[in-house]
Amino acid sequence: MRNTHTIVELVVIGAKRFDIFVGMVVLRFVFNLLLLTIIIISSSATRSTKPIVKTTSAACQVRVFGKTVQKVPLRYRDDDSPYALAVAAFSDEPLVDSSCGSVGSAVDADPSPASPPTTMNFLATQVWPSARTAARALERYMNPSWRICEFGCGPGLPSLVAASLGADKVYATDVDATGLELVKLAAKQQGLENIEARTFDLTDNHDHELPQADLYLFSDVFESAKVAIGAAAICYRLLGQQHQPRKDDASCPAPLLVLPHVWVFAQADRAQREFFLKEMQRLLKDPSLSWSTASNLEEEKAWALNSRLWLCDLDEMNVFYG
Ligand SMILES: C[S@@+](CC[C@H](N)C(=O)[O-])C[C@H]1O[C@@H](n2cnc3c(N)ncnc32)[C@H](O)[C@@H]1O
Repeated sequence: MRNTHTIVELVVIGAKRFDIFVGMVVLRFVFNLLLLTIIIISSSATRSTKPIVKTTSAACQVRVFGKTVQKVPLRYRDDDSPYALAVAAFSDEPLVDSSCGSVGSAVDADPSPASPPTTMNFLATQVWPSARTAARALERYMNPSWRICEFGCGPGLPSLVAASLGADKVYATDVDATGLELVKLAAKQQGLENIEARTFDLTDNHDHELPQADLYLFSDVFESAKVAIGAAAICYRLLGQQHQPRKDDASCPAPLLVLPHVWVFAQADRAQREFFLKEMQRLLKDPSLSWSTASNLEEEKAWALNSRLWLCDLDEMNVFYG
């Protein structure tokens, strides 16, 4: 066996190895190119099949004191949360926005002054994950002929989104005056005249008149068992009501609602939501009533549009923050 090579043989071997090396580099390059092409094609396919997500811009509908609330989870310690902005604005001055005058005169004539936000009411002055999901559901399924009424709206992201989508009329309601002021201010800043901020207490006796609407919304309102049970009583009452739609726009893709629909959004870790469910089961005499188990909003469509009552079990991990 020969273990030495002539120079020519060495050159041939070297050339072969070089060929193999070059071949591998070329192959690797082609493979990467293919991979990149597949990624680009699949991402553009996903883009084109996904509905346009307007919640990103809708999130900006919560704009207070001339500042846009950012597209981040708006916990109260965030500098851009409605809470932080309201606290800052309240520090010496009354709740006034330089660009649009006194907030108190923003949309409705409710003269009740808002008190400065405290840590007691920070719940009402920030945007919760449920509100973002509710806003997205409105973007997908709302028919502009609908009148919307939101309970426990806080800073009112869903209400503001509904108004900016052209809802016939929006009632944003809460017990918290500061939350309502934030809604009024955002509405005024954005020229939304179809929204009215009103005081409404879910625990109050429910005989007084409810705003007429085609869709009633509850987003993360179960702060206590009392509120949850009060909300259930309101829901039950709403399901027994019947309204005529105001507009009849045949060009709208979603069906018109004649009987009001109720959408309730709540995360599983809101312990008080079970009080709501139990009370609804009792009132409707339907022990099988439960939170929906669909994994995404597309699957929820049937609930949103066909069922009078949509109990949306919200998965905070799947909330779109933009
Ligand atoms: C966790 S925050 C949710 C705020 C907003 N809906 C959201 O999802 O971003 C709960 C809201 O319920 C409101 N709330 C609490 N008790 C209420 C009551 N008795 N009647 C009406 N709203 C109430 C609070 O003021 C607060 O705005």
